[in-house]
Amino acid sequence: MAFLEAQNLHKTYRLSRHNVVRALCEVDVSVEAGEMVGIYRTACDKSTLIHIGGLLHSPDKNTYPPMSLMIDGIDVAGLSDRARTQMRAKPMGFVFQGFNMLFAMTALETLRSLPNMPAGLGTMPGRRP
Ligand SMILES: Nc1ncnc2c1ncn2[C@@H]1O[C@H](COP(=O)(O)OP(=O)(O)OP(=O)(O)O)[C@@H](O)[C@H]1O
Ligand SMILES: [Mg+2]
Repeated sequence: MAFLEAQNLHKTYRLSRHNVVRALCEVDVSVEAGEMVGIYRTACDKSTLIHIGGLLHSPDKNTYPPMSLMIDGIDVAGLSDRARTQMRAKPMGFVFQGFNMLFAMTALETLRSLPNMPAGLGTMPGRRP
């Protein structure tokens, strides 16, 4: 099995009761460990797919055929929020398109201001006690 294996991913953004955006539709993805993948074309649902594969967002449930999302052999579609957070904190890493930093702070100060230090940063030189 590939490192990331997804089948039949759908993502519907519900803007209101009658207004929905259907992003992903019947998407299958397979990425081997160590494989480098690029996704190109403007507005082809790249971010949506990456957010789902990165466990930031969830795909639609109750699809037919049933969707599945496996990462490193783990059925991540069935994980709790807490378990998803733990996976994001350790084996995963993101470089965001927009950095979501706090304006008056440097990148390091922003990270230090977080209540829970992200994995690995606790050993950074110069960290305040
Ligand atoms: N939070 C959201 N709420 C509603 N619609 C959204 C949301 N995020 C994305 N969309 C819509 O989903 C579709 C796919 O957007 P997405 O950002 O995944 O595409 P993209 O390929 O990353 O685009 P870009 O090339 O601009 O980076 C678009 O129609 C977009 O407007
Ligand atoms: Mg994008």
